[in-house]
Amino acid sequence: MKTLNVELGERSYPIHIGRELLGRKDLIAEAISGTQVMIVSNETIAPLYLEKARAAFSDYECESVILPDGEQYKNLQTLEMIFEALLKHRFDRHCTLVALGGGVVGDITGFAAASYQRGVNFIQIPTTLLAQVDSSVGGKTGVNHALGKNMIGAFHQPQAVIIDTDTLDTLDDRQLSAGLAEVIKYGLIQKDDFTSWLEQQMDKLLARDPDYIAEAIEVSCQCKADVVAADEKESGIRALLNLGHTFGHAIETGMGYGNWLHGEAVAVGMLMAADLSMREGWLNVAEVKRVEDLIDRANLPTRAPASMHYARFLELMAVDKKVRAGKINLVLYRAWADAFVSAEFDPANLEQTIEAHRANDSEQD
Ligand SMILES: NC(=O)c1ccc[n+]([C@@H]2O[C@H](COP(=O)([O-])OP(=O)(O)OC[C@H]3O[C@@H](n4cnc5c(N)ncnc54)[C@H](O)[C@@H]3O)[C@@H](O)[C@H]2O)c1
Ligand SMILES: [Zn+2]
Repeated sequence: MKTLNVELGERSYPIHIGRELLGRKDLIAEAISGTQVMIVSNETIAPLYLEKARAAFSDYECESVILPDGEQYKNLQTLEMIFEALLKHRFDRHCTLVALGGGVVGDITGFAAASYQRGVNFIQIPTTLLAQVDSSVGGKTGVNHALGKNMIGAFHQPQAVIIDTDTLDTLDDRQLSAGLAEVIKYGLIQKDDFTSWLEQQMDKLLARDPDYIAEAIEVSCQCKADVVAADEKESGIRALLNLGHTFGHAIETGMGYGNWLHGEAVAVGMLMAADLSMREGWLNVAEVKRVEDLIDRANLPTRAPASMHYARFLELMAVDKKVRAGKINLVLYRAWADAFVSAEFDPANLEQTIEAHRANDSEQD
């Protein structure tokens, strides 16, 4: 097992990464202060891992609530199910919530923990690659609104993140690739050596070689932990982690939550950001090709849905949280492995980028 630390003063917490970590009492003991534990999971993950995970909490009053599965349920109605379970079992403000699942369960459970009795403790036990390399670390929690993704939420840090890499054994290939999109993101933002490593080892990652998967998770979590420690509330450098996300959120919302996976939409978004950066003169053709090839090799899409025209993108991007004073702020590449936030780009270039990365009208979305 490897343990990293997110350095946030008195709110610092460990990220444990390794095999056979589910059910380990020693890892949760230091993260729990009260006697009541509510495990939140969903109908897909609970049959696979709930009993195993529960073993760690046998010394506590442990209850569970099982949510429906899917991004389309990451909303206020589902959140209400958690509050109802907590109140029904008379959980007090010293209770601990445990998120056992992917990013959807993690985000919604974190938000329940942020708001129940004005804030209670929570532990993240992420079970998708995406959640293990990104969403479980950093304290961004929340739910979607029909009019915009992640629009209702709070910053609330967990007390611990426990990553049992064995849980990835049951994850399907499409979800594994979606997680790789966020892994690729860390390299593209600022780590050329990591991008080169990914280019060399992509086949091993797709084949789920445990050593290589563990390495990818460790590097990703370390990147995320460093960025969060430097800028917890996203007033500066943390915004770089949104590379590809303003484009991606437009696709996710535009296509209906759950149809395009978050990682898939972000993958196209990172390529669009590269293409726009090339049109602005900051990247060259070969560098954009490198981004496209890496995304393609991870079995991720390189084209947005045919129905997502420029006008639709603009409309959806205008509700994204990255809009300030009417200007869309995008994470772009000032140079290779050097992402930055900018609203200073030519809208005509943005239109060309979007139209060039849209599937043909003859193709199905
Ligand atoms: N908070 C953050 O900083 C942050 C960062 C990135 C993404 N996110 C959010 O994360 C969400 C996406 O997360 P995700 O990709 O994990 O999706 P997800 O939570 O929907 O999980 C994907 C699917 O895999 C299933 N699953 C989970 N673990 C499994 C396992 N071990 N074996 C078999 N099936 C399993 C789930 O039930 C689900 O059907 C989005 O809502 C996104 O906005 C948040
Ligand atoms: Zn993301």
